[in-house]
Amino acid sequence: MYKIAVIPGDGIGPEITEQAVKVLKAVGKHFNIDFSFFEASAGGAALDTKGDPLPQETIEICKSCDSILFGAVGGHKWDDLPAEKRPENAVLRLRKELGLFANLRPAVIFESLADASPLKKEILDKGFDIMVIRELTGGIYFGKPRGRTNINNGFKAIDTMEYTTDEIQRIAIVAFEIARKRRKKVTVVDKSNVLETSRLWREVVKSVHKNYQDVEIDFQYVDNCSMQLVKAPYQFDVILTGNMFGDILSDESAALTGSIGMLPSASLGDGSLFLYEPIHGSAPDIAGQNTANPIASILSAALMLRYSFDLQWAAEVIENSVRAVLAKGYRTADIMHDGCIEVGTLEMGELISREIENYK
Ligand code: IPM
Ligand code: MG
Repeated sequence: MYKIAVIPGDGIGPEITEQAVKVLKAVGKHFNIDFSFFEASAGGAALDTKGDPLPQETIEICKSCDSILFGAVGGHKWDDLPAEKRPENAVLRLRKELGLFANLRPAVIFESLADASPLKKEILDKGFDIMVIRELTGGIYFGKPRGRTNINNGFKAIDTMEYTTDEIQRIAIVAFEIARKRRKKVTVVDKSNVLETSRLWREVVKSVHKNYQDVEIDFQYVDNCSMQLVKAPYQFDVILTGNMFGDILSDESAALTGSIGMLPSASLGDGSLFLYEPIHGSAPDIAGQNTANPIASILSAALMLRYSFDLQWAAEVIENSVRAVLAKGYRTADIMHDGCIEVGTLEMGELISREIENYK
């Protein structure tokens, strides 16, 4: 039996997560796998009802489960709160408390979505399949000191970018191990022409690379990488980068696939409890309208089967079913194109579930 903590969160979080749970239930039923679900609250939803974006009870529920399916958190309503009360704090704290330092964000182009991609056909024709590996519990997101002090004519605000050898080593190992099972190339993305942390990254990754001579390694500055992604995305296999650069480049990579509504992620760590979430946010402007794309959440469920439960074949069942539904022309609004059939969040979840129920 697999126990899954489900954290719907805010905005479109609940709608999309519901569809991912539906898909997991379809997999469970058709292939006789026992999944059970335990809902927990986080983000603005938890702040409003329990006074804390990440209540202790939610952490307990997560720790009693084998895996976590996370929706999205945040919304304009809570935008002016201090950092520790902000909904975003829920996901940042969960990542930190559970030691989820390795964030995998695969950006793959589904053939039938070529029209939704902003890239030119000549570029798309060369295909792309990128694994962005983002360091998730360090860097400027967590460095100290941080905060604000009063100065003469206003304030001074400080965030600190910091990385240690150990933090870089462990994420580099993850990247090389994953590259070994792919096309054996790691591109390290940094700003080592300017930043001290980036210079340490290069040094440490080079030394870890000595144990992975079968994997090709190259280095790009983050500004150049953001350009290369739109000009020649096919050059990338694994992109290894820090927390903030990874946040930015993964949104860019997502857009190349047609929509940010398509990209899943897996957050892994040393232990055995991992978290799966779409890379998009809570999109409060379209919440509750049944228009959000649930595919990123559904593909996150597929990553859960692959990385937490070692059910590679079942992950492929979900991925192939998503591909099949797209090939039949069904689209949510974000990936809609002439000649396709527009469906809502719920319908997309149902179509994919039905595909799984009929899977041979
Ligand atoms: C992401 C999101 C989060 C991040 C926010 C919601 C804190 O943008 O997962 O990419 O910056 O990590
Ligand atoms: Mg982001």
